[in-house]
Amino acid sequence: MSDALKAFEDGLDEVEASYREVLSGAADEPSLRAANAKLVGPEGRLTKLLKLMKSVPGDRRKDLGQRSNAVKNAIKELFDGQLEALAAAAREAELTGPALDVTLPGRRPLPGRLHPITRIKHELMDVFTSLGFDIADGPEIDTHENCFDKLGFPPDHPATDMQDTFFVKGADGNVDPRTLLRTHTSTIQIREMSRREPPLAVVGPGVVYRRDDDATHSPMFHQLEGLLVDENVSMADLQGALQVFLSRLFGEVVEVRLRPSYFPFVEPGAEVDARRPGGEWMEIGGCGMVHPVVFEHVGYDPEKWTGFAFGMGIDRMAMVKYGVPNIKALFENDVRFLSSF
Ligand code: PHE
Repeated sequence: MSDALKAFEDGLDEVEASYREVLSGAADEPSLRAANAKLVGPEGRLTKLLKLMKSVPGDRRKDLGQRSNAVKNAIKELFDGQLEALAAAAREAELTGPALDVTLPGRRPLPGRLHPITRIKHELMDVFTSLGFDIADGPEIDTHENCFDKLGFPPDHPATDMQDTFFVKGADGNVDPRTLLRTHTSTIQIREMSRREPPLAVVGPGVVYRRDDDATHSPMFHQLEGLLVDENVSMADLQGALQVFLSRLFGEVVEVRLRPSYFPFVEPGAEVDARRPGGEWMEIGGCGMVHPVVFEHVGYDPEKWTGFAFGMGIDRMAMVKYGVPNIKALFENDVRFLSSF
């Protein structure tokens, strides 16, 4: 007897002898389907067996083919019967089981809400549009030029260092020193002035990136840039604008203190501190009068135009407004935290 013939006959004997038990053992529909697949699925026992048929000697094929078909049909019949029986049993269980208590209160869906950063961003934009500012936007991946050079950073400024700035890889897989994740929203100043003529007043909220990581610094955070260009703009206008916007944001009279500081793109430059009534001073951003060199870089006449600019940490403002001690909590997406205010 040929090997193929023996294998076929033994296999068929085995399937014939075992299929009933295999199918009847299934307690629910998924296991019944799995058991059925083990017999007649693409990788099933019988399916594999039938592939041997072509190696079986010709004079035995007809006989064995008929037997195989009979087994296949028997399996199908048993499977269909079992499927029906399981469905009937499930229906029966539902009808005789405990009744549905329609008086039970339903499960209330958890309503979503805006993230605190998004909320404060919307509030900021409301305040500034009511003061006559336009809203501007810019890309998170920008050029070295827009982020540093045109803002008057000297070529070797530490902020442009690998330590502070995330650079982007070019198509060749190498770090491209001209393309980066913006480290501040001041890129928006350059972009807006390059495409518009003065006078103008814009604010641009957005995400910025720095290689910074501790309780009050996150490598990804949010800033709001403000820029106003007109004739005869003074530092008093800047202080007034900050005072009004912070007071409207916090809904109470907020004191603003400007502390002399240095940023390459403003002169004079200052840190902005804010204090709510009875609270502590907190540093929330930088500001100053637009440096003439920046106007030159965007083609504005520095003899004619003056302006102020500021950059605020939106996350910082959210921390103050909502009393969040750790900036990371804002980005961990823990619903217990996010639904707590
Ligand atoms: N871009 C500065 C920073 O991120 C803040 C700033 C903006 C300062 C505008 C002055 C004027 O630190």
